[in-house]
Amino acid sequence: MKKVKDHYFYKAKKEGYPARSIYKLKEANEKYRFLRPGMVVLDLGAAPGSWTKYASKVVGRQGRVIALDLHGLKVNAPNIKYMKADVLGVEPGEFYQRFGRFQVVLSDMAPRTSGRKDLDHYRSIELARSALHIAIQVLEPGGIFFCKVFEGEDLPGFRKEIGAYFRSVRLFKPKSSRTESVEKFLYCQGRE
Ligand SMILES: C[S@@+](CC[C@H](N)C(=O)[O-])C[C@H]1O[C@@H](n2cnc3c(N)ncnc32)[C@H](O)[C@@H]1O
Repeated sequence: MKKVKDHYFYKAKKEGYPARSIYKLKEANEKYRFLRPGMVVLDLGAAPGSWTKYASKVVGRQGRVIALDLHGLKVNAPNIKYMKADVLGVEPGEFYQRFGRFQVVLSDMAPRTSGRKDLDHYRSIELARSALHIAIQVLEPGGIFFCKVFEGEDLPGFRKEIGAYFRSVRLFKPKSSRTESVEKFLYCQGRE
């Protein structure tokens, strides 16, 4: 993934986060206030670990963050549990059996970009759909799903699909996400 060395990159470095993506989650949480102390959070596509570290700080000692990725994390804390796995091959029931119900599922997953906008979009939706599939099975009623997607023709249909499981679905573009980037986030509130 291309490293953008802008204001957010240096800010993240200074504040001890391994990636500038921290500010996208932080902005979303400051707007919607969905992460709280004591919560159990599943973070899909968590490496190198900025979201995990931020969520781990917010949920605190009584909470827990289960962080899954193909690659390892550069962060650690007693309330973080890392799992090396491919989301496309996981069995959601396994999470439920091991950790019980989650209050929040995050997905910042992104495909390895090919340079073909349409292909990257389809792959992003495929990852987001896998995250949704996990979220609807592990979230407690009322739970939150916050997920990255690349813009493209299948996004309106995917948004509608999510609407069948959540009370409201909002599209969010953080200021810290570059304007030229096709990424957007879906904030899905109230698992029904
Ligand atoms: C933008 S990065 C996530 C950054 C992270 N949220 C942070 O704040 O440090 C996207 C991540 O998605 C992961 N990813 C992509 N496809 C995946 C898959 N099939 N299963 C698990 N993780 C995947 C990549 O390995 C990569 O670490």
